[in-house]
Amino acid sequence: TDLNRIRNFSIVAHIDHGKSTLADRLIQLTGTVAARDMQAQIMDQMDIERERGITIKANTVRILYPAKDGHTYVLNLIDTPGHVDFAYEVSRSMQAVEGSLLVVDASQGVEAQTLANVYQAIDADHEIVPVLNKVDLPAAEPDRVREQIEDVIGIDASEAVEISAKTGIGIPDVLEAIVTRLPAPKGDRDAPLKAMLVDSYYDSYLGVVVLIRVIDGVIKKGDKIKMMRTGGQYPVDRLGVFTPKMQDIAELGPGEIGFLTASIKQVRDTRVGDTITHDKGGAAQPLPGFKPSQPVVFCGLFPVDTNQFEDLRDAIEKLALNDASFSHEMETSAALGFGFRCGFLGLLHLEVIRDRLEREYDIDLITTAPSVIYHVHMRDGSMVELHNPADMPDPAHIDRIEEPRIKATILVPDEYLGDVLKLCQDRRGIQMDLTYAGTRAMVVYDLPLNEVVFDFYDRLKSVTKGYASFDYQMIGYREDALVKMQVLVNDEPVDALSIMVHRDRAETRGRAMVEKLKELIPRHMFKIPIQAAIGGRVIARETLSAMRKDVTAKCYGGDASRKRKLLDKQKAGKKKMRQFGKVEIPQSAFISALKMD
Ligand code: GTP
Repeated sequence: TDLNRIRNFSIVAHIDHGKSTLADRLIQLTGTVAARDMQAQIMDQMDIERERGITIKANTVRILYPAKDGHTYVLNLIDTPGHVDFAYEVSRSMQAVEGSLLVVDASQGVEAQTLANVYQAIDADHEIVPVLNKVDLPAAEPDRVREQIEDVIGIDASEAVEISAKTGIGIPDVLEAIVTRLPAPKGDRDAPLKAMLVDSYYDSYLGVVVLIRVIDGVIKKGDKIKMMRTGGQYPVDRLGVFTPKMQDIAELGPGEIGFLTASIKQVRDTRVGDTITHDKGGAAQPLPGFKPSQPVVFCGLFPVDTNQFEDLRDAIEKLALNDASFSHEMETSAALGFGFRCGFLGLLHLEVIRDRLEREYDIDLITTAPSVIYHVHMRDGSMVELHNPADMPDPAHIDRIEEPRIKATILVPDEYLGDVLKLCQDRRGIQMDLTYAGTRAMVVYDLPLNEVVFDFYDRLKSVTKGYASFDYQMIGYREDALVKMQVLVNDEPVDALSIMVHRDRAETRGRAMVEKLKELIPRHMFKIPIQAAIGGRVIARETLSAMRKDVTAKCYGGDASRKRKLLDKQKAGKKKMRQFGKVEIPQSAFISALKMD
């Protein structure tokens, strides 16, 4: 295809501002899919994505658009994940296109994710076309939002396209804007092949499908290719584009976006951002800026029923094949038995994986406290990367501990600002900036990632009644007074409840945890001390008193069926309990005990 007739773009938006609806409309209007073949949202493939209403993996579609100038253009849309956990994937997808549609809900205005993603687009030197969506809503204020885009983001919004992705108003204008306002790609057909690996996924029929953007050169079916970073070499079995159905084509040239399959066994063998070239006569230098995405949040996953360990292993290995950014290794815990220590890109990623294990593989899990990676500097000058509080070295040999910090950007209506500042302050935040855009404040905080991984986002939503939006990026490591706090139930340490905590906050956290556990652990026939301790020093203690009577005693008379029901209920409840020494702790206690109110 002639480079001048190609436009590659992505859509950046805050969650729920209408990215998928707009993508569907663009596809529909150009007749790429017959209306009856349209699933509600084609771009969101996985069920889980649809259910949660989020877009996780980058996806792509080729649209043919006959423009007003009489030429037919090839429009390639790369869908980018909207969530901060997948920031690296967003940035690679952005490198693969020349422009972005910035979709902003005209009834809501600019949100934190709009900002984070649009900055990535600006970093990638994109031409940006602002699109004001949902103008059909009575609450839409396109003029105000246009001004806000100019004030907050600093790009010209005077020619923003006003649309309703729902009713179809303005969609033809969006297509014209793509053709007339976004630049054509550049590339050299005669240069050695350089194609960027944008994304990959596992398909049970085709094996690993790799999404690529050709920068220079031409790739053909049957070519022998080489991944420049990982070194893997493969013959191309199949080459094609998504329309959104897979359609085979003979070659992909500069500026084009498509997929290939090449008997690649697992997604792990493909790295987002890698450069693909020919095995012989290939490019000398890979494309710049490659960095593999690294897990930042770790937790233990253990089966509630120890007999499910093998099932869990199989399930985790299957998921890992398809997700290079998810790490796992076997872990044994005195209390929980065999399980896995897993690493994730962020909390959402953790939740998605845990959900899939529970739902698709039907495994009940105990999730231990999420932890970040601490840098433990030892007195002998060495440094230990601590992924699990259970592995904390002897404090006598530790010189200092550093923790990862983030820069958090929060947008919130004025009236909730006080609560947000208090929340950030409580989580050891340092305020970096506070500005106003209309009736909303934009607050920037330097926060320990540790304080954010657990329930920060939930708390933020609850103190602001859902009106705040939040986004973050890692900024580096800093020393602080961190200690490991252990929880002892009936004098036995429960590793799964160990956490790293700031010394000044240890007592409050410890007290809150033991109080919660006292409520969450059912009474036994004996007294149970519940303690929080740092090293050998107990900092909080509660005692759960012994049970006085048999629960069935309250079933008067001889109502056998009621009695049986009660016993059955207890039995079912038991399956969700884990035995710690002589004490049974319900699964729910592990997460609830860690929540801070
Ligand atoms: P994620 O996939 O979660 O990132 O969200 P998204 O940005 O793709 O949003 P989506 O397209 O799923 O739309 C969110 C909600 O807004 C849905 O309920 C849509 O039906 C609705 N919506 C989208 N566009 C419009 C519009 O123009 N007008 C109105 N009234 N509703 C819209």
